Amino acid sequence: MRVSAMSLVAAVVCAAVTVSLAVRAEGDGGRKDHHVEEMMERTHEGRRSPYRRLGRIVDGEAAAWPDVERLVAEFDPMCRALLASKNDDIKGSADGYVEAVKEIWDAAKKHDAAGVKSGYQALKDSCGDCHFKGGVGGELDD
Ligand code: HEC
Repeated sequence: MRVSAMSLVAAVVCAAVTVSLAVRAEGDGGRKDHHVEEMMERTHEGRRSPYRRLGRIVDGEAAAWPDVERLVAEFDPMCRALLASKNDDIKGSADGYVEAVKEIWDAAKKHDAAGVKSGYQALKDSCGDCHFKGGVGGELDD
């Protein structure tokens, strides 16, 4: 009897912990989108990221067109993550980014270097749609 009473207490405590964790996850008001955050890092952070690699090509580093096309394709999951976000502030600010990626994609298909360059500038400008003090992406370091 004692033992089962104890395990009942344990079960209740466990349930309470589970509930409070669930409440805490909801506590962001669903604002935090972990998939978007992870894709943001993978797509933009570090020398090997598609964003930095494409930036170096735009700045004059030699690259074959098929490689450029493959690189631009790596932005596709990022666009999808933004458009699929349950956070309306993210989803509603994604157009500039998505349009810029599309501009780069169309230019790369046509082997239009100037078009890739202007699309990249538009992409760069679009970061500011979310990344500013108080914005949904917060301020960026660089
Ligand atoms: C539609 C909104 C949106 C756009 C556009 C956007 N971001 Fe983000 N970004 C986010 C959100 C949301 C996060 C996650 C912030 C968090 O929850 O910590 C994020 C996180 C990041 C992070 C990860 C860590 C950090 O420092 O916060 C980097 C790096 C980043 N973004 C770079 C960029 C760059 C570069 C661009 C433009 C090429 C860009 N972002 C455009 C919304 C956006």
